Amino acid sequence: MRYPEEVIQEVIGQNDIVDVVSGYVALSPRAGNHFGICPFHGEKTPSFSVNQSKQIFYCFGCHTGGSVLTFIMKIENLDFLDALKLLADRARYRLPEKEESASAKEQRASRELSAELNKRAARFYHDHLYGNTLDAQNARQYLEERGIHPTLAKRFGLGLSPTAWDGLLSHLSDTLPEHVAAAGLATQNRKDATRYYDRFRSRLMFPIIDTRNRVVGFGGRIMGEGDKQEAKYVNTPETALFHKSDNLYGLNLARKTRKAELIIVEGYMDVLAMHQWGFTNTVGVLGTALNDSHVRLLKNAGCTSVVLMLDGDEAGVRATLRAIPPLTKGGIRIKTLNITEYDPGAKDPDEYLQRHGAASLTELLRNAKSHIAFQVELYKDKHDMDTIDGRVSFTQEAAKLLSTLPSAIETEAHVSEISKISDISESAIHTEINKQKGNAPMILPTTRRRTSAAGRGQERSIKKAKETLLHLILTHHAAAAALEKSGYLSAREMGNGIYTELLELAFNNAKQGKQMNPVDVISAFESGDLHHAITEVFIDSPEYETKAAIEKSLNETAFIIKRAWALHQMQSEDAKNCQETLQSLGLMVRNMPSISI
Ligand code: GTP
Ligand code: MN
Repeated sequence: MRYPEEVIQEVIGQNDIVDVVSGYVALSPRAGNHFGICPFHGEKTPSFSVNQSKQIFYCFGCHTGGSVLTFIMKIENLDFLDALKLLADRARYRLPEKEESASAKEQRASRELSAELNKRAARFYHDHLYGNTLDAQNARQYLEERGIHPTLAKRFGLGLSPTAWDGLLSHLSDTLPEHVAAAGLATQNRKDATRYYDRFRSRLMFPIIDTRNRVVGFGGRIMGEGDKQEAKYVNTPETALFHKSDNLYGLNLARKTRKAELIIVEGYMDVLAMHQWGFTNTVGVLGTALNDSHVRLLKNAGCTSVVLMLDGDEAGVRATLRAIPPLTKGGIRIKTLNITEYDPGAKDPDEYLQRHGAASLTELLRNAKSHIAFQVELYKDKHDMDTIDGRVSFTQEAAKLLSTLPSAIETEAHVSEISKISDISESAIHTEINKQKGNAPMILPTTRRRTSAAGRGQERSIKKAKETLLHLILTHHAAAAALEKSGYLSAREMGNGIYTELLELAFNNAKQGKQMNPVDVISAFESGDLHHAITEVFIDSPEYETKAAIEKSLNETAFIIKRAWALHQMQSEDAKNCQETLQSLGLMVRNMPSISI
């Protein structure tokens, strides 16, 4: 969501670029511009320029450029919105409350209603669990058997859904059933769309509470073994409010421990058991793979390291492997603990705790393996360590993994471990690691066609033509309208992405009879990276004295661009096979357009 254009323009308008930049860079006037040492790359002679009349800056050395807003984004390392706020503050300008689109408003209203309904449902289920019915007594008995005390059940807001098909629906009879369904709490009858029934019936209810303390959804477990036909768990589907990938079960409580290390488990019951036994820094993934959104949640909770304690089965091992990349990417340290390795009779943390208690688990947690050791272990299982070949491939695979580690100390510890396992010397392993580092895919510069000096000159003049044309049509709407009406140039003929967008922007402006100054155009794009290329369009653009001069430039530049595009097309395979295309392209290449404004 962004502020209206007028607001952005006003904030920028109240912050003179020379004034603002002078706060960071010593500027001296030269040839109508202000020059200084570029703050964005190391240089000794000033190639950083600020143009006061255009209100833009540009560095001829590193090609960074843009408006005063771009400058603040770059130098203060802020995003568009925060840079805007800084400039608004600087000018003592009060930003208006943000405008919301109609559909965003609707979405928000729907989320608010869903949150309200989920909260009422949670209270309803909770009251039902602590009521006097036989069902409730059985449910409490079941919790007791599983070692969940009432205090903990209350802390987690556990509940029980009634057996009736409309228990919740009739409790929420003041609400349209379609709204209850939109909140994920009811389902529409497949045959008769006017009928709804409760999604959760006769289930132990685990409310899922987000970090804003809203009830966003539920997990519902059948009591006991249940009937084999039924799913063990029924969960809230994806709704406007609930996304299973954006929530971690128990995070609302775990984050209150303010611990930098969180324990991640798979099941609702595991989270409960862990909290019951004192491991209150535990959260659960909701039947999905751990992804970047989860990592963001963890980091927002101040978490810098995790212990992955997923189920001990094959699926759990796979889930552990899949969780490693997003966590590593987010800079979170990872330890893994597969409790089934220590007790084959315990398939998850809950079962381990029931059998061995908290002290034993604490000990296992202390010895939890790094994710590197975990993966090395898996490699070991994969290869036949009794043969030389097996040990060599194991070592190569392990070395490849270690080559990704940034820390030499950490690498060292693992090298000695791998050497012991494989019986291959540490120095040989180091050599292999270095080899792998050399092999690591480098970010190659984008492949450029080799071009002769003449070719390069030509490319430069085509780029110049595009810049001149864009400047012209962005700042003269009549020229944009004439060009569009002629149909001579289409967006794709502008080649690169931003030029295409600028052409479209100019055509759109023309329809509204609008023309833009450089800063307007720059501010139409939020990404600072685009600002540099856009600034190049304006930095040494000519001034036009007469309409004739504008027409002349428009026709000439359009022709150069069209010709370059046509020549490029002719070289393509398709064109070679098509006489007709060639002929029409040939025509284009020879004839200068005559667009008049
Ligand atoms: P208990 O058997 O009571 O100990 O449950 P648990 O929490 O240990 O669950 P389990 O290990 O069987 O499954 C782990 C997680 O996977 C659960 O907490 C659910 O989130 C999810 N899950 C398990 N079974 C189902 C199912 O039948 N349907 C859906 N949608 N999710 C399930
Ligand atoms: Mn379990």
